[in-house]
Amino acid sequence: MSDHLLSTRDLSRDAAVALLDVAEDMADTQRRTVKKLPTLRGTTVVNLFFEDSTRTRISFEAAAKRLSADVITFSAKGSSVSKGESLQDTAQTLQAMGADGIVIRHQASGAAAVLATSGWTRAAVVNAGDGTHEHPTQALLDAFTIRKRRFGAGSRGRDLAGLDVVIVGDVLHSRVARSNVWLLTTLGATVRLVAPPTLLPTHIESWPVEAGTDLDAAIADGPDVVMMLRVQRERMTEAFFPSAREYAALYGLSAARADRLRADALVMHPGPMNRGLEIAGSVADSPRSTVLEQVENGIAVRMAVLYDVLAGERTA
Ligand code: NCD
Repeated sequence: MSDHLLSTRDLSRDAAVALLDVAEDMADTQRRTVKKLPTLRGTTVVNLFFEDSTRTRISFEAAAKRLSADVITFSAKGSSVSKGESLQDTAQTLQAMGADGIVIRHQASGAAAVLATSGWTRAAVVNAGDGTHEHPTQALLDAFTIRKRRFGAGSRGRDLAGLDVVIVGDVLHSRVARSNVWLLTTLGATVRLVAPPTLLPTHIESWPVEAGTDLDAAIADGPDVVMMLRVQRERMTEAFFPSAREYAALYGLSAARADRLRADALVMHPGPMNRGLEIAGSVADSPRSTVLEQVENGIAVRMAVLYDVLAGERTA
């Protein structure tokens, strides 16, 4: 139980494909009437959430329960964290209570890595989003969703070579964008980022992507996937664009823009969505949108990740 999942940057192509394949097996079990597997019986998984979350927290909880782990969900609000207890004291308390796995979401970039390397706990650590840094299980469920939509029953063993993915919006504040850049490129996809100049990180030249500011040009190139990012107002300390109306006009996926996409192009969004800002409601609800599939697939992918760090053998 020494493995952690902290980022997608350090995942090899083979390890990523193997994880997606285990997630396929997990998804198969979720089509049965009895969805629970005995795999992690006797194991305790703590969901340690210092930041708000709906999908990710519930999804990890469902995943751990379906593997028969004992699950303790701990949110910072209403706990001693709001009285000023440190991450160290919280982690040591969880260690004393016998946590085998800790799923952590924290507002500080690097918090999951600190927990994994601190010696405060021997638990396997899974990063469920650390500041603006990474959100590896979101990228894995996005890759899983793309692979399943594109290759269907023939998904197992495949990577995403040859696919063209455009990630649009608030890249600067998005851990989802970062984890997807590493994972999707490792899996062989071409990734392009489109954002207002103020919402592109400054060190973008070192990323394995092309970056631009023209959404219409990116759409005209006929991408396989357009992934919209939430405008993360809570992380904005200044005005990054003049108005919501202008942002929607230039960077929103409107019905008119979606109509110019290839017939088989997918539209993704990690949620929660600002309907009418980065994505039109009608596009979010259209057949090419994978928003709800992403949520559904998140459970199987998180089952695979928990299995991998708590019971499995890494392939590479
Ligand atoms: C993302 C997150 O929290 O990073 N949401 C999620 O996990 N489903 C993206 C976001 O909040 O915009």
